[in-house]
Amino acid sequence: MPSFFTDDTSSIPEIESPADVIDAAPAESTTKRPVGDRGAGDAAVNVVVVDPDDITRNHLLTQLGDDVSSFPSAEELVPFLNGEPVVMILGPSCAVDGSLAAVEQVLCKHREIGAILVAEELTTNLLQQALRSGVKDVLAAPADDQQLAEAISRVTPGLSASSSAPPEDDPLLSGDGDLAHVITVFSTKGGAGKSVIATNLGVVLAQRSDKPVCLVDADLQFGDIAVMLKLAPQHTIVDAVSSLDRLDASLLQSLLITHESSGLMILPAPLEPAFADQIGAAEMVQIIEVLKRFCSYVIVDTPAYFNDVVLGIIEASDDVLLVAGMDIPNIKNVKIGLQTLRLLNTPMEKLRLILNRANSKVKLDVSEVERTLQVSADVLIPSDIIVPQSVNRGVPLVQTAKRSGVAKAIGEIADIFAADAAPAKRGWR
Ligand SMILES: Nc1ncnc2c1ncn2[C@@H]1O[C@H](COP(=O)(O)OP(=O)(O)OP(=O)(O)O)[C@@H](O)[C@H]1O
Ligand SMILES: [Mg+2]
Repeated sequence: MPSFFTDDTSSIPEIESPADVIDAAPAESTTKRPVGDRGAGDAAVNVVVVDPDDITRNHLLTQLGDDVSSFPSAEELVPFLNGEPVVMILGPSCAVDGSLAAVEQVLCKHREIGAILVAEELTTNLLQQALRSGVKDVLAAPADDQQLAEAISRVTPGLSASSSAPPEDDPLLSGDGDLAHVITVFSTKGGAGKSVIATNLGVVLAQRSDKPVCLVDADLQFGDIAVMLKLAPQHTIVDAVSSLDRLDASLLQSLLITHESSGLMILPAPLEPAFADQIGAAEMVQIIEVLKRFCSYVIVDTPAYFNDVVLGIIEASDDVLLVAGMDIPNIKNVKIGLQTLRLLNTPMEKLRLILNRANSKVKLDVSEVERTLQVSADVLIPSDIIVPQSVNRGVPLVQTAKRSGVAKAIGEIADIFAADAAPAKRGWR
């Protein structure tokens, strides 16, 4: 019987097999609160705590509840694995002085372990190191009970039941094997309404779809999707790029933040504009490819200019919503944008024109705009004060003003992408 299994060996139950160790409750004297609110689906997963420091280990055990075992190091857990999925909570001491290298060795050989690191100081450097070592989620210490429970819930679905499971056995890839439909929202004019449309379209599609729907904020310098949904992300697209060499569906899912009331998942833009430089077109496309494997729809919000990242995204997209406002500079820019896309051989069938603020009394009517752009608009979105109001409240208007003209127009966009929708006849000339 290993003395490291708990800190009080006097009351350890007799252990016959490795499975017993994983299943056995640690004989830790502190009163524990079961992690019952982790969600019924995850209640069965085995959770272990790893930290060389007794006090830290006990503290985490106290938070996690009765069914949790503890070990001073990841290597010492290995003999007790029985092939069942295990969530391993690494305490802060596991992040110091090369300890993550040892963790990486264990994680490489045991795909059934999903590791979550609770780190004293959450620096970008540490985050990158942890993700490269195979850790699936990183929380800042002290992590409260709910943060731990949520991280366990995020990591659990991606765990395979056997150490030798090949990547295609990833449970997140189960289902029909269909790849997601990728929809990019683009405009050559700032403030045209891209982010409002991307966010609300994402919410509608998430509500309609059984499979996950992900909104990627690819406005890498000034992305504001998280703010529009009143979310405070722990991870961003930068973390996905840092772990690109081992990015699979489950790791990527652990980096997404969920908009709880709709189920929409978001891959947020970097928190600082300077990080945008770390993300190139190839990285962005690789991330989209992984998302396609477990989502039904991937929606991508973009900045208001062409660069290689935006062109890469447009090429990887099935559809591009070209958003135009109802003023002359807007229409001029969209026309130039269209010419650029033509020169780049973008298939015109991908493009759909969305006219935003289309009821404005601005002495420019829709038919004039359509004539100038030589295309008919797919959807007209009216101008409405509820749009900035909902942006400022951080609540999507498709949830609060379902009967508004704007919400109906967003619904019309979603209808275009319904699984049983007839292929649209395009009017681009
Ligand atoms: N239909 C509308 N009616 C009224 N206001 C709108 C409408 N669409 C967008 N807006 C407002 O216009 C502003 C810009 O919208 P949004 O942020 O979606 O544009 P964007 O194209 O993403 O801008 P950027 O290029 O800066 O990212 C927001 O304050 C939003 O509330
Ligand atoms: Mg925007």
